[in-house]
Amino acid sequence: MRVYVYPGSFDPVTNGHVDIIKRAASLCDKLIVAVLVNSSKNPSFTLDERVNLLKCAISDVPNVQIESFSGLLIDFMTKKKAAVIIKGLRAVSDFEYELQMALLNKNLNPDIETLFMMTNINYSFLSSSSVKELARNKGNIDGLVPDCIKDEVIKKFSI
Ligand code: PNS
Repeated sequence: MRVYVYPGSFDPVTNGHVDIIKRAASLCDKLIVAVLVNSSKNPSFTLDERVNLLKCAISDVPNVQIESFSGLLIDFMTKKKAAVIIKGLRAVSDFEYELQMALLNKNLNPDIETLFMMTNINYSFLSSSSVKELARNKGNIDGLVPDCIKDEVIKKFSI
């Protein structure tokens, strides 16, 4: 069984993430979306909120499972018997950091591959932080996040 893992902070999930999740899920038997518990980025949404928003966003994709992890991704991969890490690349600016991560992970466990997927061009400008910036300033986030999470994102920043 081909198990792939798509790791991230998902603070919150965007339509760019959903696009990668759907495409990656079609390449494997099971895709685990792995939500990092203690992100150094000091998340705006709690772990439970990030997981629940993801669950709502991908409820129509059958072979996707949402889980959380702490510690090293490579240890989570071994625990889940997963051989491929999925990463999305939006622009050249993502590349340097992602290359470093991929090489670090390769150094830790050479049997695990990192597979990069190019973002859908429609979402190449999109990030969780830009969604939050818009929501904080009453900007329109239609089409940037799944419809079922939109209200919750707006509510988070309306207080
Ligand atoms: O959505 P993000 O914040 O860009 O995701 C980053 C993530 C979770 C993929 C990355 O920070 C990660 O893998 N963290 C776990 C710790 C780890 O294994 N680091 C790599 C070796 S130092």
